Amino acid sequence: MKENLGLVKTVKSLAKILRGKPNPPASLADNEMLQVIYKRRSVRSFTSQPIPDDVFSAILEAGRLAPCTVNLQSWTFAIFDDALWQQTFDHSIPFHGNRAVIVISDSARYRQVLEDFPYCPLTEYTIAVVNASLAAMNMNVAAEALGVSSVMLSETGRSGILDAKYLKEKLNLPDGTVPLMTIVFGYARGAYPIMPPKLPMERILLHGQYQPSDRATMESWLEQMIAGYNASHLGTSFKTQLDIYQSKIGQAEDELNEMVFYRKK
Ligand SMILES: Cc1cc2nc3c(=O)[nH]c(=O)nc-3n(C[C@H](O)[C@H](O)[C@H](O)COP(=O)(O)O)c2cc1C
Repeated sequence: MKENLGLVKTVKSLAKILRGKPNPPASLADNEMLQVIYKRRSVRSFTSQPIPDDVFSAILEAGRLAPCTVNLQSWTFAIFDDALWQQTFDHSIPFHGNRAVIVISDSARYRQVLEDFPYCPLTEYTIAVVNASLAAMNMNVAAEALGVSSVMLSETGRSGILDAKYLKEKLNLPDGTVPLMTIVFGYARGAYPIMPPKLPMERILLHGQYQPSDRATMESWLEQMIAGYNASHLGTSFKTQLDIYQSKIGQAEDELNEMVFYRKK
């Protein structure tokens, strides 16, 4: 992967990022719900302002009411304030967030009453992941609508799918459950981050048959990712982070295999 883009490419890439913005049809641009969805960004810096209990409850309720297959509600939400997070993990909630939710796919609960459910671990796990992820997104959007910002984490602070085995032990989770992500909630410190490079609509739509994107588009996207990341994360680089991520997913792969196919042991 090319890491040193050169000054001209870097400046051009940063300019492209700055030009990126949500692009709704003009006739719908005032829709409040759309504005909430488009405004949401992953926020990684929070003030110490506490989230009131009723606001946090409303966010959790959005998760509880999310759509899911056969209404099985194959999820568990582990909820934390900073004191409980400290007690559990020996450090503050990542980015000094005020509350956190570890979203867990859960095929164990409904099995308590559906004893004859067939053994289809990969499909069951996949469906539970889909469902729990929808609940997670419902919580994020509800938070945003209430002025609360959030970020989903798969690894920071040993808190998501890349640390699934560690979390399973830490939270005493039964077989059939897999921690997927931590959502950190809080009030944003300062302005929202600018929108990271999103692929153009015409590259992600499929008309009739799948067509791979042209290489130039994907290279331009990668250049923006590198330039944007390096500009906003001093002291590290996109490549370093990608290397860390790749090594972690390798380890997580083995652990997840063990967890998802637990009944084969
Ligand atoms: C399942 C999931 C896991 C993520 N894990 C992390 C993470 O570990 N660390 C992090 O800084 N951001 C994480 N993110 C946030 C993404 O980096 C972010 O959503 C992406 O860059 C797009 O930016 P946006 O959310 O502002 O649109 C995660 C997002 C998702 C959906």
